[in-house]
Amino acid sequence: MTARVVSGSANPSLAGAVAAGLGTEPVPCQLDRFPDGELRPAVGHVRGDDVYVVQPTSPPVNDHVVELLLLVDACRRAGAGRVTAVVPYFGYARQDRRGRTGEAVAARVVTAALAASGAHRLVVVDPHTAALEAMSELPVEMLTAAPLLAAEVAAGLPEEAVVVAPDLGAVKLAERFAARLGRSVAVVSKLRLSGADVRAQRVVGDVAGRPAVIVDDMISTGATVEAAAAALVAHGALPEPLVAATHGPLVPSAEVVLRRLPVHAAVITDTVMADPGPGRPFRVRSVAPLLADAIRRLHDDRPLDDLLLRG
Ligand code: R5P
Repeated sequence: MTARVVSGSANPSLAGAVAAGLGTEPVPCQLDRFPDGELRPAVGHVRGDDVYVVQPTSPPVNDHVVELLLLVDACRRAGAGRVTAVVPYFGYARQDRRGRTGEAVAARVVTAALAASGAHRLVVVDPHTAALEAMSELPVEMLTAAPLLAAEVAAGLPEEAVVVAPDLGAVKLAERFAARLGRSVAVVSKLRLSGADVRAQRVVGDVAGRPAVIVDDMISTGATVEAAAAALVAHGALPEPLVAATHGPLVPSAEVVLRRLPVHAAVITDTVMADPGPGRPFRVRSVAPLLADAIRRLHDDRPLDDLLLRG
């Protein structure tokens, strides 16, 4: 079987870079729509191939989810030997349980749909919840961009810097960063009032007089980072924290929020496609080498150990 990359429309530049890393080009595909908006993708020749469909489910989330499902099905029907869904940003992962009565467990629904579409395996990067593996019928490879991002913030980081989880969900991630950077961890306890409105309630840990590195899996509206930065300063941390997040702004207004924040620097990856505009308030590191390495190893049946999210 030959390893082939199929790109959805969510992040063709990342898919192209992954394919280039594998010494190939994305399989030609047609990503058409009916006039009523129905998606109608068609893949080129993949018969007998080991196919990797690269499609983060970033906004417009639902279009990108459906396109991913249809591309996987199209590959299967075109005779692919094996189809792996490579979903660098896995949307709906925040809905891994019912937050209140009457809600759906959307993460489970999406993983079940992927399994039903004919995918053999799912590859994600820093998913919001590690429970994705337990709730998925498919084998899930959870890669992490933490080493990439930690290396980016390590240069010139003062000894007394503290790594900050801006909510309880980010504690594990913060611990991973802190272990890599050899720094301690502090936690902001966050109350989410609505999708775009959060309150920082308490700061646990020693932040007074210290520079902070806020780490999170994603920046969507920027509200979490904004609240955490304000809470840290209120608790005596030095102003202008560093910010590192795997998944970049999911809504455009987050850039406005980051720009107005007294943030020293913000670093994200390209799991979510972003305009490389010169005035953007953050640096972008590519996960293409990470994905290409993972695909090469999966194709060769070699372990992914050091690329995986652990602990
Ligand atoms: C939530 O628990 C996530 O880890 C992020 O903290 C959150 O989704 C970021 O969203 P926003 O930027 O809208 O606050």
